[in-house]
Amino acid sequence: MAKHGRSKNVELWRPLDDEGVAYEPWQRLTLMRVEADTRSRLAPKKHRLDHSLSVAKTAEHLAVLYGVDPFLSRVAGLLHDWDKVVSVDELLDRARYFGIDLGVPLQSVEPLLHGMVAARELPERYPHLPHEVWHAIACHTSAAEDMNPLDMVLFVADGIEPLRRASEGIQQTRDMVGRVSLEDLFWNAFVGGIMYVLQTGRYLYPRTIDIYNTLATARARRNA
Ligand SMILES: [Fe+2]
Ligand SMILES: [Fe+2]
Repeated sequence: MAKHGRSKNVELWRPLDDEGVAYEPWQRLTLMRVEADTRSRLAPKKHRLDHSLSVAKTAEHLAVLYGVDPFLSRVAGLLHDWDKVVSVDELLDRARYFGIDLGVPLQSVEPLLHGMVAARELPERYPHLPHEVWHAIACHTSAAEDMNPLDMVLFVADGIEPLRRASEGIQQTRDMVGRVSLEDLFWNAFVGGIMYVLQTGRYLYPRTIDIYNTLATARARRNA
């Protein structure tokens, strides 16, 4: 599982300065363009820009560690919070425009919308990027029943990137990197996210319970 030659005591969750990925020239160019666009888009919110760059590095690192596509992971990390600079009213308008219906008033799930809206807007800007990137961005806030490895990499990277202040749950997920499967790592981050919502008295998106039950049932079947 762990491809890096780092000892067991090293913090495997922390991305390296250079993951040494041999990108194709077109991938390198695309990453440069997407990073430049992200820097310009998120410039008004420096902490959001720093977070996005950090998620991109962490996602690339997890991808190398777990055999997922590092290029798609890094691109998804760069773009995942593209719409975090949009005002709440504007975001709600865009969600309505795209017909996003989560079965509850959109205001109550506003924190989940930026990924779903970005996933509908960005394909026009980057038509050469594949659907997988948009799927990962769409479900990076809510998770989904059909999480694939790229989705899991982005979800986990968003939750554990080094600039995020460590809670007990976040540290627990960090400590599991490279020592458990990607599915188990994602599960820990997903459940930790739900616990955080409950402990802080935030609104729980009702479909989260369905997603939890579907994933829990699949896990129980796999582990039987
Ligand atoms: Fe986000
Ligand atoms: Fe994020």
